[in-house]
Amino acid sequence: MKKIAVFTSGGDSPGMNACVRAVVRTGIYHQLDVYSIKYGYDGMINGHIKKMQSQSVSNILQRGGTILKSARSEEFRTKEGRKKAFEELSKHGIEGLVAIGGDGTFTGAKIFYEEFGIPTVGCPGTIDNDIYGTDYTIGFDTAVNTALEAIDKIRDTAAAHDRIFFVEVMGRDSGYIAIECGIGGGAELVMVPETTTTIHDVVKSLKGLRKSKTSSIVVVAEGDEEGGAADIMERVKSEFKGEDKEFKVTTLGHIQRGGSPTAKDRILGSRSGMAAVEGLINGQSNCMAGIINDQVVYTPFEECITKSKPLKEEYLRLQELLSI
Ligand code: F6P
Repeated sequence: MKKIAVFTSGGDSPGMNACVRAVVRTGIYHQLDVYSIKYGYDGMINGHIKKMQSQSVSNILQRGGTILKSARSEEFRTKEGRKKAFEELSKHGIEGLVAIGGDGTFTGAKIFYEEFGIPTVGCPGTIDNDIYGTDYTIGFDTAVNTALEAIDKIRDTAAAHDRIFFVEVMGRDSGYIAIECGIGGGAELVMVPETTTTIHDVVKSLKGLRKSKTSSIVVVAEGDEEGGAADIMERVKSEFKGEDKEFKVTTLGHIQRGGSPTAKDRILGSRSGMAAVEGLINGQSNCMAGIINDQVVYTPFEECITKSKPLKEEYLRLQELLSI
């Protein structure tokens, strides 16, 4: 293998740049030509392919977002789109790919590999931490810390006014961000898609806490089956009619995706990037380079996509137990 290319795809996450840097520099270290593809699969289709030097990735380690830009490509979902992408890669003689992204990215990579046979190794880049085959994903730690900082600030004003706040965090169908900032931020309640917490349960808990607490924070994962935080807040509020209690809602949104990556995300991105390139050199393909129990593990894309990553029972119990 002489030429490889790296791209980022799907939602950006802090630490993706660290990963790109590691891929480029590990490839160069092993005497490969390393190319970058801008705008993910869309860029592959449209030929946004450029040769990288070691200096091309200078001074990016600490930056959020992705210097390679990102996109969610509709065209790559079609056979014609993927054929165009293959032709563009062939023009540059690309023989291996490193795909940095989440499950959508790996689904595309798997199909592409099965159709055109270009060896591909993935790096888990998403704030959601919803990928099977790695303990953590690149960007998750930064997102949790960003959300936590916001929750701490909300706590100050919630306490000052004796209010109940519903804070919505990202995570798509996963409750990982919610449970970790719930524990770290001392939330009174956390609503996640992995468990069922009905409006009745929320009302009962909040009413139960009235004697011991004058303000409360409920963290709501955006994928929760009861709906968004604003809707949940209105339904809960209607159960407190006649009581002098104020309810507020904050949706943290995309601030959770930005910012300088934490040390953990820089290191995870770097480790995963190096492991992806060395994996390709050693014959790994159609799999993701994740870290499990502090060891690099290559997990087939098939498993990363189809197997779910359950929330830790202990974390759920911990949050509940400490919120009394
Ligand atoms: O997958 C990362 C993520 O930030 C999710 O947490 C969120 O649901 C989604 O992407 C938002 O996507 P977009 O930036 O396209 O609105």
